[in-house]
Amino acid sequence: MIPDHYYLSTVAGARLHLGICGSIAAYKALDLCRAFQKFGLRVGATLTRAGAEFITPLSLTALGVQPVYTRLFAPGDDVYAHLEPGQESRAFLVAPASANTLGKLASGLADTMLSCQLLAAPCPIVLAPAMNPNLWEAEATQENVHRLEQRDSVHLIPPDRGLVACGDQGAGRLASGPEIFWKTLQSMTGSDLQGRRVLITFGPTREFWDPVRYWSNPSSGKMGAAMALTAWLRGADVHCVCGPNSQWLPQGIVRTEVTTAREMFEACMDIWPRADIGCLTAAVCDFRPAACSDQKIKKSAHQKDGLSIPFAPNPDILRTLGEHKREGQTLIGFAAESEADHDHLVQDKIQTKHLNCIVANRITQSGTGFNAAQNSVTVHFPDQQKTPLPTMSKADVAWKIWDLICAK
Ligand code: PMT
Repeated sequence: MIPDHYYLSTVAGARLHLGICGSIAAYKALDLCRAFQKFGLRVGATLTRAGAEFITPLSLTALGVQPVYTRLFAPGDDVYAHLEPGQESRAFLVAPASANTLGKLASGLADTMLSCQLLAAPCPIVLAPAMNPNLWEAEATQENVHRLEQRDSVHLIPPDRGLVACGDQGAGRLASGPEIFWKTLQSMTGSDLQGRRVLITFGPTREFWDPVRYWSNPSSGKMGAAMALTAWLRGADVHCVCGPNSQWLPQGIVRTEVTTAREMFEACMDIWPRADIGCLTAAVCDFRPAACSDQKIKKSAHQKDGLSIPFAPNPDILRTLGEHKREGQTLIGFAAESEADHDHLVQDKIQTKHLNCIVANRITQSGTGFNAAQNSVTVHFPDQQKTPLPTMSKADVAWKIWDLICAK
């Protein structure tokens, strides 16, 4: 469910409690458990009576979920079992959440183990409803949803629209696993970038010389997407400008898709005046074919002498943002360096482009850099200080970079 470059160790060891209500989507809670456990979270769960009609307590126990609760006053449960999840957990997720459980929580009812545990939980509560569209649209459900959304401790992930199990169409499908996963993690992580507007570029650019052929590079966008995801987890308003890529990001992150360096330049120049932080990870083509033929270039026309394409320079986005940087803005550049001793090159870029730091990655080290799940970087600052980071997942690298930026 979660790709390796998004692996994040910062939540490892924390406890999460998962409530599971009656819905055909209940089986998806098992996948969510596995995903949280992969990130080192300890997961406990409560099945409602209806939830236990769809999956069993044994399914959860077999996955290592512990403790597993079902009903109030179940034999063998601790006498304070109704308080335990709230006392131990950093977040309480209910997925799928039924109309019944939403109603109980909205009204402060506590007549089942899950509703009682939710009412007693001081931690953030994340609700991912799933039900028939008529149940979801019902006036009573919408009133309850509205009341719950007013509470600071509640984060509601609306259901997706589409075909539901009974054949009806509409809003009611459980939101996607990754959306629920990351929204839950967001409720557990700090908010030191709260309200900060962050512009992030990622991916390659493509520079065409005819309608079907282009010049580009192997950037996958993984590093920049990890920067975006982790900034969002820490509360930032994130706007990405990205070249062609297949990176998944939560719906809360705005993305502007571009193809060429000049399109990326235009989009960044538009966003930058309203941003607090710019983080440019994109592998922008420094040059583009000076002209783009509107017809496919024929092989036969160049068979004898070969094909020569003159190139023209592209705008340097990082430099231009640096030139337009206002007081209080932070600008982060990335550098893909292949030279062993690249410190002097990095310092030169910091000074000439007015940067607050450069993240330098050795692209020649195998298993890191372009398209890899991991990266190995050194973060350089204008005062010549540098912080080398160990090889780790791109999300862990990104988390550490934000730690360094927030500490400045
Ligand atoms: O996308 P992945 O597969 O995960 O790979 C990640 C990465 C290796 C691409 C990434 O970590 C990285 O190093 N990005 C910068 C790549 C690069 O083009 O470096 P550069 O030295 O050419 O450019 C330096 C900086 O100027 C970068 O911040 C770049 O975004 C920016 N730039 C470059 C050229 C240009 N015309 N405009 C720019 O803004």
